Amino acid sequence: MKRVCVTGAGGFIGSHLAKRLRGMGYYIVGADWKHPDSDCIRADESCDEFHLVDLRKYDNCLRVTAGCAHVYQLAADMGGMGFIQSNHSACIFNNSLINLHVLEACRVNEVDRVFYSSSACVYPEHLQLDERAIGLKESHAWPAKPQDAYGLEKLFAEEAYAHYGRDFGMTIRMARFHNVYGPYGTWKGGREKAPAALCRKIAVSDDALEIWGDGEQTRSFIYIDDLVEGVLRVMFGDDPRLQGVAINIGTEELVSINDLANEIMRIASKRLRVVHAPGPEGVRGRNSDNSMMRDVLGWEPTTSLRNGLERTYEWIKSRASNDPSHGRSEVVRQEMIPL
Ligand SMILES: NC(=O)c1ccc[n+]([C@@H]2O[C@H](COP(=O)([O-])OP(=O)(O)OC[C@H]3O[C@@H](n4cnc5c(N)ncnc54)[C@H](O)[C@@H]3O)[C@@H](O)[C@H]2O)c1
Repeated sequence: MKRVCVTGAGGFIGSHLAKRLRGMGYYIVGADWKHPDSDCIRADESCDEFHLVDLRKYDNCLRVTAGCAHVYQLAADMGGMGFIQSNHSACIFNNSLINLHVLEACRVNEVDRVFYSSSACVYPEHLQLDERAIGLKESHAWPAKPQDAYGLEKLFAEEAYAHYGRDFGMTIRMARFHNVYGPYGTWKGGREKAPAALCRKIAVSDDALEIWGDGEQTRSFIYIDDLVEGVLRVMFGDDPRLQGVAINIGTEELVSINDLANEIMRIASKRLRVVHAPGPEGVRGRNSDNSMMRDVLGWEPTTSLRNGLERTYEWIKSRASNDPSHGRSEVVRQEMIPL
């Protein structure tokens, strides 16, 4: 059995990916500084070993990646717009340490293949000023001017991983994820993203629904099972165009936040009064261009937004109805956590 490390295995995407890889017969070493709680896929379902460690520290990175054939670097201090726009310093400090230390540990431990999870947040703000968003191609990332520190750090880390690939002959795979949603995603606490936040608000309300901004800002969303499939295709793909290059994994199904809310209300069979309130909105419009994905992977996501939202809404509704506070959430400014 090949030993595979998934960092961030206590989180949304990491736990789904670890579970899928374990089902494929790999021996999974999970690492995270948070143990999966009742809202996550349990560690004993997704991992053979689970290490509760701070991956900002190099020694921990060295330990969890030792003897591993593959490493998937998914650990990050992150959340939806509310979190990212309130925590620039934490995103820069924590994520750059994690990314560099995991990468260097992979080099020292002679890991065969390394996957790095980047984000659509790397793209320049000036290409995302219009809700009729142009599809963002991989080459649009440079010259760089991401909106937030979170996106700039992701772009820096992409460069670091690409350089290690060139300098040390490491096999490096990278992808830019575009708004991932699905069951077991964060749905309360201030780090949740728009689909989960809207599902929660709609599940617990019989009257009003608050939406940040005018709701005409647009995004495309990818369902978790499609995302995991895309990650595996990128990781195992042997097309030379994948070496050290970050490829979009998203959908091209552009939707406004108002339309997203309307779709969830239809699924919930509710008609709530929409209240537009000031809040962190992120860029005005963002869509993926999947040309490279089609060309290099010969693949595209298949889950429709309607179908993915149905599954997500049911899961969040069951969680919110069992939560005494109904998952009431606020944007959080977290304390810096000392090393
Ligand atoms: N969810 C999305 O829409 C999305 C979009 C673009 C990129 N990404 C990227 O995908 C990856 C996974 O995201 P996710 O949605 O699963 O987020 P998540 O927050 O659910 O998972 C990230 C995990 O990293 C862990 N972590 C953070 N700091 C750590 C540290 N110092 N030591 C150990 N573990 C630490 C967290 O505890 C968390 O469990 C991240 O790199 C994220 O930036 C996600």
